[in-house]
Amino acid sequence: MARPLVVLGSLNMDLVIRAPRHPRPGETLIGSDFGTFPGGKGANQAVAIARLGQEVTMIGCVGRDAFGDALIATLQAAGVDTTGVTRSDAATGVALITLSAAGENTIVIAPGANGMVSPELVRSHEALIAGAAALLLQLEVPLPAVETAVALAHAHGVPVILNPAPAQPLPATLMRQVDYLIPNQHEAALLTGLSVHTPEEAGVAADRLRRAGVGVVVLTLGEQGALVLTDDGPVLVPSFPVAVVDTTAAGDAFVGAFAVALSEGRTPVAAATWGCAAGALACTVLGAQPSLPSREAVMALLDTGRRSLE
Ligand code: RIB
Repeated sequence: MARPLVVLGSLNMDLVIRAPRHPRPGETLIGSDFGTFPGGKGANQAVAIARLGQEVTMIGCVGRDAFGDALIATLQAAGVDTTGVTRSDAATGVALITLSAAGENTIVIAPGANGMVSPELVRSHEALIAGAAALLLQLEVPLPAVETAVALAHAHGVPVILNPAPAQPLPATLMRQVDYLIPNQHEAALLTGLSVHTPEEAGVAADRLRRAGVGVVVLTLGEQGALVLTDDGPVLVPSFPVAVVDTTAAGDAFVGAFAVALSEGRTPVAAATWGCAAGALACTVLGAQPSLPSREAVMALLDTGRRSLE
């Protein structure tokens, strides 16, 4: 039987208001429609994987409240194994999202129960991690838990895929245990102290990250695509142009699709092409988890773009 992918990360309920633009400090804006959508970078990446037809198990924490019930139900409806999701006395995580007319967002998170993901909780799921095809993580749960999970995966020979979002400085030991690092421009800039705007600058930053011990760097550049740096040198994977409605979870769609393609034996460059296709499709639909594309949709876009599927 194929080993499942395992995601350790956050579950949030996203409270989204559309506004003509982002407000300035001290300013009140009249927005338009309001909606609640299941989100959280960890849960989004788990759902992205399930929609692409791979087995996936989620490790995380929600509260004993209505948002927690809803988030678990949505994961299960998507086919995610939630045996690793614990209930805590803290409230379920919430993300306040303002969505501008251009489809760009600003996000503020109250982590709540996500903050209860501890090294002890991670260690209680060692068997899940040891049996994974790969472990995916982000930085919306406490860093000690991330470090524990990465060390366990590394010790068991399980590939580690880290999406360092939201950005924060990372310990040197952790960096050396990461097989695939998938930062965006802002995260790469924070991790390296370099300016990361162009593919050339991305290449320099990716090289700096590899020198810190990371195996492969996949630096996402939005409309400019994704820069993949392996031992074979840098490759720029172009993006797929789409009409943007909401960029929320585009990065999560990318990471989930990358992990699926990689676990099916594709190269990092081909996997990043899958990531670009899934990320583009996620920009065309409002909300985080509702926007995560099916395998058929990703294959159709890859086919339209006549991109390599191998
Ligand atoms: O990556 C998008 C996600 O970031 C949202 O769903 C929100 O919950 C925040 O975690």
